[in-house]
Amino acid sequence: MRETAENLEKMRNFGISEGISELILTTRNDRNGSKYVSNAAPFGIVWKNDRMFLHLFKGSKTCENMMRENLFAANMTDDAVLYATTTFYDLEDDEFGYAEYGYAEYDYAEYGYAEYAGEESVSPKEASIPYLKNADRVVLFKCVGRTEAEDSVIIDIEPADFIVLKPDKAGFIFNRGFHSVVEACIHLTRYELTKDQKYVDLIRHHWGITQRCGRKRDKEGVAVLRKKMNEILDRE
Ligand SMILES: Cc1cc2nc3c(=O)[nH]c(=O)nc-3n(C[C@H](O)[C@H](O)[C@H](O)COP(=O)(O)O)c2cc1C
Repeated sequence: MRETAENLEKMRNFGISEGISELILTTRNDRNGSKYVSNAAPFGIVWKNDRMFLHLFKGSKTCENMMRENLFAANMTDDAVLYATTTFYDLEDDEFGYAEYGYAEYDYAEYGYAEYAGEESVSPKEASIPYLKNADRVVLFKCVGRTEAEDSVIIDIEPADFIVLKPDKAGFIFNRGFHSVVEACIHLTRYELTKDQKYVDLIRHHWGITQRCGRKRDKEGVAVLRKKMNEILDRE
């Protein structure tokens, strides 16, 4: 499809390329009383041989949400605190903005509100997609297929819309301190699952790199991670 080809080119221009890009996904939780609560957590967007998908292990809030919702946002940022916080904790409501995808082309009066959320009846405002206000750039994605296995689900996705929140920030230079925070977050999620000591050693290795090479915000990201690691180790 022409539209899909154009969107893939836009993805590349946005800085997301083939392989796995680790971005912070924002989704809507199931309705809590009268209001929706948003969720944010890092996940890998896999792009291989013209196929784009997520591989979500069951048990996360994001996985639960993506089994129900057909739209989500992928947030691009080099803020290490956002990566560490969204991996292990919830964000405050005021850290989310809401993107209103597709409203211009959709005649709600004629067709009703079901189409975007896959639900019986939701208002246009309720069908909007949460994103992180502090991200640099955001890609809105549609889910186009789900393949469920026992422990995980593969969700095929397609880019649908692109939002630039910080036009002056045109990408970033590789900083080992920042990337080490992201690596350490991944290792701590694996330690939580397996309790394998090798992950604690890897986390300490990455902390050392952040101390040497990181920026102030990267060291603050390590502080969030250390707090979480201490909580986990204290429980054992
Ligand atoms: C950089 C990064 C990438 C991750 N990628 C995945 C992934 O592709 N699939 C997955 O199931 N979990 C992944 N995780 C783990 C989830 O982010 C983690 O389980 C998180 O706590 C889920 O939060 P939630 O319950 O709010 O969705 C990743 C973690 C990090 C730090």
